[in-house]
Amino acid sequence: RVLVLDFGSQYAQLIARRVREQNVYCQIVRHDITAERIAEYAPRGIILSGGPSSVYEDGAPRCDPKLFELGIPVLGICYGMQLACDALGGSVQHTPSREYGRAHCEVTDASDLFDGLPTNMQVWMSHGDQVSSVGEMFHAQARTETCPFAAVKHASLPVYGLQFHPEVTHTPEGKQLLRNFVLRVCGCTGKWQLSDFAEETIGQIREIVGDRRVICGLSGGVDSSVVAALLYKAIGPQLACILVDNGLLRKAEQADVVKAFTEHFKADLHVVDAGPQFMQALEGISEPQEKRRRIGYQFIEAFKSEASKIESAHFLAQGTLYPDVIESGAAQDGPAATIKLHHNVGGLPDELGFELIEPLRDLFKDEVRRLGLELGLPEDLVWRHPFPGPGLAVRCLGEITAEKLDVLREADAIVVEEVKAAGLYRQTSQTFAVLLPVQSVGVMGDARTYDNCVAVRSVDTDDFMTADWSRLPYDLLAKISTRIINEVKGVNRVCYDISSKPPATIEWE
Ligand code: XMP
Repeated sequence: RVLVLDFGSQYAQLIARRVREQNVYCQIVRHDITAERIAEYAPRGIILSGGPSSVYEDGAPRCDPKLFELGIPVLGICYGMQLACDALGGSVQHTPSREYGRAHCEVTDASDLFDGLPTNMQVWMSHGDQVSSVGEMFHAQARTETCPFAAVKHASLPVYGLQFHPEVTHTPEGKQLLRNFVLRVCGCTGKWQLSDFAEETIGQIREIVGDRRVICGLSGGVDSSVVAALLYKAIGPQLACILVDNGLLRKAEQADVVKAFTEHFKADLHVVDAGPQFMQALEGISEPQEKRRRIGYQFIEAFKSEASKIESAHFLAQGTLYPDVIESGAAQDGPAATIKLHHNVGGLPDELGFELIEPLRDLFKDEVRRLGLELGLPEDLVWRHPFPGPGLAVRCLGEITAEKLDVLREADAIVVEEVKAAGLYRQTSQTFAVLLPVQSVGVMGDARTYDNCVAVRSVDTDDFMTADWSRLPYDLLAKISTRIINEVKGVNRVCYDISSKPPATIEWE
């Protein structure tokens, strides 16, 4: 494996991803990890990430200088390079003009990292400081017009530095550079696969769980399904799954989940039909935040009550993913980094008293999907678009009634079905229907109608923080509109939402 020491870079995650794309396992750890701890991990390589600080400032994040003496190849990127040079006899200065954007780089030593790469290449720079002198021990491998040390190599230690960012796509040769580092310099085999991950994780789960039981909440989404499938492989009947059907699920959602988990995995599945309680709690409520609050409360109650029926349950499994871990600043370097135990159950209160198992906390979403397929989950479940916890409640605007939910569910099913039929489901990130609290006049046959309006929302996004509306073909939109108006009773108008996020959000409430 390769370790990435994170100095607060916005790109640390991207570095890890690029390394994994070379089939080399990669983990992000805190920058202040000790050299002893690194040695225990026995990585083949270490990457020091970039970061917003200046190495000459007090309190700037540093690494344990002893790590350079471990004999493990080190690649410093941007701030990481400045740190390595600073630690090994060079000096770093503020540059008069901050360099940001594309630059042309001339390779002067085409060995190691630059093996097989062109002499002139485009690179992406983003820095306010740069290495001004490297002492005796380093020499430059590449330079740009303003940066004499765009890439450096140590004379006797396997330590390398890049002032530019190889992990971003604006450095077209970056992928090959990282490949050269992990395969050539570090000697990784490039054979890591998700199945290795699954096998290793299953073993760890067995060890931690022993003969106790684990509860896993199923939502119908891919993350919780993959967690359940992995746990089922590890501990079989010691796993109990709880699906709280809040009456706000999509069409056939409960049936799909039940089918996957009882037919295929034969898991101990508890379905709580809590729809009536949720509807009662939501009666007369139209304020979006209050709707969410009540749904959250009902969920906890329903989950708690079912969980209390499961004897000797000790653990709660959760589908936390890598980006969540990194976002929360909790990248771990503990002994059980893949399966972290603590008591902070997201969305569920501490008093439930379970220990938490998060077997996906080292994976990215696309890796989770691939793992799901490998574990035998159906494609439909694995590729399902994300669905918010409060479900259709945030897509049925204003006060909710059972009738409105039925209209929305039918319209939503048509939207998804047609987008899938057009082969565009996987290209879009979230596609759904929204029932507006609006009636408008229409004409059907010879009669006047005064019916509901459905908005179709489809967005493309990488991270759900920003999103653009999907440019769905007009003919597809026409088909969706015709089908909804013809087939869903109570709807006489369909609109397409062409707002980006920001300033709009993906959901309407
Ligand atoms: P917005 O509407 O804020 O949504 O642009 C961003 C992403 O988050 C999802 N979302 C939620 N997911 N519980 C969830 O589990 C929620 O309360 C919730 N609200 C929004 C939304 O579907 C989108 O993917």
